[in-house]
Parts: sequence; C-alpha cells; structure tokens
Amino acid sequence: MVMTDNVRASQREFRFDLATYLAERQAQVEAALDRSLPVIYPEKIYEAMRYSLMAGGKRLRPILCLATCELTGGTVEMAMPTACALEMIHTMSLIHDDLPAMDDDDYRRGKLTNHKVFGEDVAILAGDGLLAYAFEHVAIATQNVPADRLLKVVAMLGRAVGAAGLVGGQVVDLDCEGKTDVSLETLNFIHNHKTAALLEASVISGAVLFGASEEDLQRLSRYAQNIGLAFQIIDDILDITATQEELGKTAGKDLQAQKATYPSIWGLEESRRQAERLVDGAKAELTVFGEKAVPLVALAEFITARTH
Ligand code: FPP
Ligand code: MG
Repeated sequence: MVMTDNVRASQREFRFDLATYLAERQAQVEAALDRSLPVIYPEKIYEAMRYSLMAGGKRLRPILCLATCELTGGTVEMAMPTACALEMIHTMSLIHDDLPAMDDDDYRRGKLTNHKVFGEDVAILAGDGLLAYAFEHVAIATQNVPADRLLKVVAMLGRAVGAAGLVGGQVVDLDCEGKTDVSLETLNFIHNHKTAALLEASVISGAVLFGASEEDLQRLSRYAQNIGLAFQIIDDILDITATQEELGKTAGKDLQAQKATYPSIWGLEESRRQAERLVDGAKAELTVFGEKAVPLVALAEFITARTH
C-alpha cells in the first residue's frame, strides 16, 4: 500500500507539462536575445536585425540546445549564448530566404518580411550582421565552458550554416523549383541540409558544451535527424492544410511555386504516417536517458502535433 502511494507520488513529481515548460523557456530565450543585441549607431541596421530576431517564433532551436545541455548534466546559463546564436542563424536564413531573389515572401512570423520594411539592401545586410554576430556572441558570451568544447561548437555551427548545411540545401531547393520530377532522394537531401542540419546542431551543441560522451552524442544526433525530417514533413503538410493566420506566413506557397514536397510524393495521409514513424524513432533513441529525457520526448511529440 505504502509502495503504491510512493510510486503515485513519484509519478506526480515527474508529471511534465510541455506548455508550461515551453512558456518558461521561451521567456528565458526572449530575455537573453533582447539583452544580446542592443541598438547602437548605426541604428538602422540594429533595428533591422532586431525586427526579425525579436518577432516571436517558437524558439525551438534554442530550447532544444538548452534541453540537451541540461539532459547531459549542464546548465541553462552555459548554453544560453549558443542557444541565442542558433536563433540568430535561423532568423538570418529566413530573412534571406524571403528576399525577392529567393522565395519573394511578404509575411513571416505574422509580420511583414524584413525587406518589405527596411528594403532589400538593408535586409541582406541585416542577415549578414546576424550571421556574423552569432559567432561573435558564442565566442564572447559563453562562460564556464572549456575552450576546446567551445571551439567544437563554433565549428559545428559553421558547418550547419555553410554549403555542407543550410546553404547547400537551399541551393538544391532553388534548383528544383518548377521541376515535376524531383526524386525522394533529392527531396531528402534538401531537407536534411536546409532544415535538419541546424536542428541537429541545436541538439548536439548543447550536449557538446557539457562534454557528453561520443555514444550519447550519436544517440542525440539520430534523435535530431529524425525530428528534423519529421518537422519538414509537417511543414509541408501545414502549407496545404493551415491558414495564413495559423502559419504567420503565406499559406499554399509550395503548390503555387510547384515545389516538390512530401505530400506531393506520398499524399497527405502517408506523409503524416511517415512523420509519426520518424518521431517514434526519435523517441526510441532517448530511452537510455530515462526520466531526464522527458522534455526532449515531449518536444518530439509536439513537432507532429503542431498546427502552425
Ligand atoms: C525556409 O524554407 C528556409 C530555410 C530553412 C533556410 C534557407 C537558407 C538560406 C536562405 C541560406 C541562408 C544563408 C546563410 C549564409 C545561412 P522554406 O522556404 O521551405 O520555408 P518557408 O515557407 O518558411 O519560407
Ligand atoms: Mg521560403
């Protein structure tokens, strides 16, 4: 009888509320981002950088980074500069992605896109400014982390952003626009680079900062690759099923631009099944971490359950 009560009490203790967790983490990340980038002369560029950086968003990449740092034994404080850098990199990639030379989009995160407000010239520079500052910020603001680990994180971020990551994925994506015969292999290449690479860097960097074992890094890496692809499949589904209000950006763009997407290859139902299969695979990688992995398990589930 006493045993049963103890078990119930411990279950209550471990009950995890994702909404509360996300709200707390988002507030911490918002405050850190706000502090990281004050407006100084020349104000115009800092205002353009802050316009997109502080425009909301799920802050999923920073939250993943903080979560894996804590999972492996580290603290929120030691991972926060890297978490902010990940959001700066993600934001700059969206500013450039929305430019007339790329996707030519008018709305992002429920607001006019950067170039619509500040002009194309300043938007390009705002992206460049955020990219450079991300690296400066990690190098200067990180505390209580040995230099060799910090160096690893800097290299990892560089790789995730460059031609081996985001840039490479975006180039193949642009190449495929208007093509009706894009293979599943090419589609996977695009998203493994354009989306999953930065998500993987988000997950792994948090663990590297605390010096996680190679085995744990590999597990987390597989978790990240699975949720990265699932995230993109859901993004493709939402482009078809969600409204502009729900998305905060133009809906139906993929169909309009004749983009190859997972639903265009598999159909909606099979795409949903594949996303769920990937999330199950991601969660299976975490079983060895036990209760400590509850936030990462919930984040994986959140990816397939989200509506925007
Ligand atoms: C959104 O994809 C775009 C990305 C995830 C990244 C695009 C990458 C670049 C523009 C390269 C950035 C340059 C550097 C130096 C990193 P999407 O168009 O499929 O999604 P959306 O509907 O949200 O626009
Ligand atoms: Mg786009």
